[in-house]
Amino acid sequence: MAKLETSDDFRVKSEEVYLPFSEELARELLKAYDSPLYIYQADILHQTIQRITQAFAYPHTQFRFASVTNGNISLLQIFRNSGWGLHANTPGDIYLGLQAGFAPEQIVYSGSNLNRAEMEQVLNWGVKTLNLDSVSQLQLCCEVYRSLSHQVSSPRLGLRLNLPEITGDSRIGVRPEEFKNAIAVTHEAKLPLSGLHFYRGTGTNATEAFTEVIDTVLSTAQQLPDWQYLDFGGGFGYPYHHGKAAFEWEVFAAELSDRISRLERDIELVIEPGRAAIAGCATLLAQVVSVKWQAEKQIVGVDTTVANLSVPSVHGGYREMVTWNGIDKSKKHTTDICGNTTYSRDYLGKNYQLPALEIGDIIAILDVGAYGYAMSSHFLHRPKPAEVLLENGTHRLIRQREDYSVLLANQVFNY
Ligand SMILES: Cc1ncc(COP(=O)(O)O)c(C=O)c1O
Repeated sequence: MAKLETSDDFRVKSEEVYLPFSEELARELLKAYDSPLYIYQADILHQTIQRITQAFAYPHTQFRFASVTNGNISLLQIFRNSGWGLHANTPGDIYLGLQAGFAPEQIVYSGSNLNRAEMEQVLNWGVKTLNLDSVSQLQLCCEVYRSLSHQVSSPRLGLRLNLPEITGDSRIGVRPEEFKNAIAVTHEAKLPLSGLHFYRGTGTNATEAFTEVIDTVLSTAQQLPDWQYLDFGGGFGYPYHHGKAAFEWEVFAAELSDRISRLERDIELVIEPGRAAIAGCATLLAQVVSVKWQAEKQIVGVDTTVANLSVPSVHGGYREMVTWNGIDKSKKHTTDICGNTTYSRDYLGKNYQLPALEIGDIIAILDVGAYGYAMSSHFLHRPKPAEVLLENGTHRLIRQREDYSVLLANQVFNY
C-alpha cells in the first residue's frame, strides 16, 4: 500500500494517483448522503479564486463568476463572499445570482437572443451591465429601457465582439463594421455605448491563444468613443489531464495588466471565468454495482449515468477517474466505466487504466465542478444526485437528492 498523506483540509496524495480525499471520508459521505454524490471542496475553491484574483496587478479589475457552469446557491455565495460578482448568460443565471445575494450592480449579463418580456425582466431586476450580442438586441434593450425609464436605473451597455480573424465563424457578437449603427442606436436612447466584451471561448490551456489577441482587442475597443470597460471573458482552460499543460493565469494577467495600464485612460477590466474557477473543486462519487470481463477488457457498471454527468459522453470531454482500491494494486486493466442504463452512449469513460474492481468499490470522477451538475438532466428518468460541501473540516448538504416525484413535476394528469 502506497503511503497516504492526509492534509488538514481533506486532500490525500499518493505516489500513483491524485485522490481528492481519503477513502474513509468518501465512505462516510456516501453513508450519510447516498450515491452518486457531487462533493465540492471549499478550500480548493478558495485557493483557485485567490490565485486568479491575485494574478491581476491592474487595479481596475473586477471578477465575475460565470454561473452557466454551476448554479448552486451555496457555491455562488462563496464567490460573492470573496468579492466576485456574477456573469449571467441567461435570465435564469440572474435569478439564481439574486437569490444568492448578489446586488444587481454586481451582475453582468452577456447573453443572446432575449425576447421583449425577458429584456424587460432583466432591466426590472436592475442589472446594471448588459453586453449585447447583436445590434437588434441593443435596439430592443434601448426601446425597453425607454418604455421603463421612470422605473429603472440606466443600464451600462456593451457589445459582444465578433472578430472573424480571431473567433472564426462564431455566431456570437457584433463586427466592428456594425459599431456605427450600434452607436447611433444607443445615442438615440441617450445611453452611452461604453463596453466591449470579448470571449476567446475555447476552454483552451494555450495561454498564448489569449495573450496574442490582446492588442487587437484593445485597438478595436478604442473605436468606441465612449469606451469605459473591457470584459475579456470566459473561455480559460482547466487542466483536466493532470500533469499536462495548464492555463497560465500569471502570464495572461501580467500581459493584459501591462497592456491595459498603458492606455491613456483608466479602463475597467472585467474577467469572468467559469470552468477555470470551479472545475477543480468537485468530485462525483459513484459506486461499482457490476463487474464483467470481455476478453482482456474490464466492464464496470456504476450507480450513476451520463444524465448525471453528460460532458464525457455527449461532448467528448475527458475527466480523470480514480479509485482508492487501486493504490495497492499495481496491475491495471483497460476499463470501460458504464452508467446504470442501457442507453448506448451511457459511458462515463472508455479505455481507462484501472485496477480490477469489485462491487462496492468507489469511483471518484474528478474536476466535475463546471458543466457537471449544471448540465445534468432527467434524460433516462433517473433523479439527480445530491450535492455536498466540505468546508472547515465538516460536510453539509447543499442540494438535496431528488426522488422519483421529480419525474412527475409539471405533468398534467388527464384521467
Ligand atoms: C459570455 C460568457 N462568459 C463566460 C462563460 C464561461 O465560459 P468558461 O466556462 O469557458 O470560462 C461563457 C460560457 O458560455 C460565456 O458565454
